[in-house]
Amino acid sequence: MSRTLKLCAYVFAPLILLITVICIYLDFGNSQKFRNSIWEPKSSNWEVLDEGSSGIWANMNAKYQNDQVIRFYHEGNDATREVLLYAESRNLDIWNTGSRYTDIRLRREVAKEMISMIPNHKVLISNVSMVLANSMSSGQETKNLPPLDFNTLSTMPQEPFSKLYLKYTEEFYKNYQNLEAINSYLRLLASMYSDLCELTSLGTTAEGRSILALRIHGRIPNKDEKKEVIILQGTAHAREWISIPTLCYSAWKLVAQYDSDNRVRKLLDKFEWIIVPVLNVDGYAYTWSEDRFWTKNRQSLKNSNCKGINIDNNWGFGFNGQGNPCDELFGGLEPFEANETFAMFNLISNTLPKEKKSTVGFLDIHSYSQSVLWPYAYSCDLLPADDENFQELAMGLTKVLHQVHGRLYSHQQACIPFDGIHKHYHPGAAIDFAYFNAEVRWPFTIRLRDVGDYGYLLPAREIVPTSREFYAMLLYYGQFISEAAY
Ligand SMILES: *[C@@H]1O[C@H](CO)[C@@H](O)[C@H](O)[C@H]1NC(C)=O
Ligand SMILES: *[C@@H]1O[C@H](CO)[C@@H](O)[C@H](O)[C@H]1NC(C)=O
Ligand SMILES: [Zn+2]
Repeated sequence: MSRTLKLCAYVFAPLILLITVICIYLDFGNSQKFRNSIWEPKSSNWEVLDEGSSGIWANMNAKYQNDQVIRFYHEGNDATREVLLYAESRNLDIWNTGSRYTDIRLRREVAKEMISMIPNHKVLISNVSMVLANSMSSGQETKNLPPLDFNTLSTMPQEPFSKLYLKYTEEFYKNYQNLEAINSYLRLLASMYSDLCELTSLGTTAEGRSILALRIHGRIPNKDEKKEVIILQGTAHAREWISIPTLCYSAWKLVAQYDSDNRVRKLLDKFEWIIVPVLNVDGYAYTWSEDRFWTKNRQSLKNSNCKGINIDNNWGFGFNGQGNPCDELFGGLEPFEANETFAMFNLISNTLPKEKKSTVGFLDIHSYSQSVLWPYAYSCDLLPADDENFQELAMGLTKVLHQVHGRLYSHQQACIPFDGIHKHYHPGAAIDFAYFNAEVRWPFTIRLRDVGDYGYLLPAREIVPTSREFYAMLLYYGQFISEAAY
């Protein structure tokens, strides 16, 4: 209840600004920044999500009903790594690779076969279909948010507009949302707080969608001022859904608390925050329509029928142009070949003509495994000069996060230390490039909930707790950077 009251307070303040908002809408029509097609309405009613026969549910249920997710432990079996390599060669879906275990999604029959070779295992998900269906329902009423028609909204009087904003916000975090709803929400936020932020496009994907970024700057009069930038990027990997509502939540709280929270106001006045909740736009759309566990983007590839580049292997540091295009880890033939990576490269490395700002913070949000990771991801043989500083900040971040809901996040270098015989390389990682090439001072990869109970199928009821603890951590991050001598 008190949250609703608070929201009301936030809404009344910017009401006057809605006139400005309407002007901005009119401008949207002419602006190159937006592709109108994104905002076309599909329905005007709030629909109850049909978990039965319609659309993706039936499709996905059939697809994954024989699938399991199993954690294979590395220790106690000399042949383990060999078997895991074998799993890779059979193109099994590897969910998570750590130094001590590997989580794999595989069909029941294949699972039996592998368990006979690696007895040291734990079944994480015994029926993927069932857990997938459960992850989509918050236990409360399950609503599929309709996309909003902003042509109509631009003529909507203030009061119903604010009501719509409140209603949309309230529903938004109850469940995972599809791309249209996310875009609608971001645009709604940008409209409500048009004095504090703007929604822009960083580029276009292979399938022609806009990569949207919310640029939050506070109410500093001179926008050309050389403000330092903190960039937050989510969903480089399409199936890591939790990163989207988590980043939307942070964007929402930053703008909504600007006037009421001194700490937030200082952070927005000092830095420009650029938040990209859905970097892999095409891939995310694909996880709703075809394959819940799709990871890469959807770019067509030369000389291959397989599609997609893994965005977190496509950056210019330690890039590996080889590899099988059909592989989930395929990072492209050239660095920045993926439109999404190229768009972020331009943003981070300051090469856009209008950008005269330097990026000091960069958080690349992934899931799962609850960890705060710093460069280098490429190999544990490389130690960053800032290792101690990273460690200090990471410890602070995990501590603050822990205070919110008691969750434990680990913190370490992003590389995976395998045994002496087998080395693990992570070519073309975003944080490595950000740190080494773009000289971003504080780059981290954050891997959100959970530690494997649900993995990518984190239940919707965990959206808000995950977002809340992340937001606490984010404020600490901003404060640390603003106080750090660098
Ligand atoms: C897995 O769950 C789905 C959905 O509840 C069900 O239709 C299917 O039969 C289950 N599969 C097995 C092997 O139990
Ligand atoms: C992105 O992909 C499209 C379609 O392949 C292409 O036409 C466009 O030029 C690309 N944009 C950038 C910024 O690379
Ligand atoms: Zn990831």
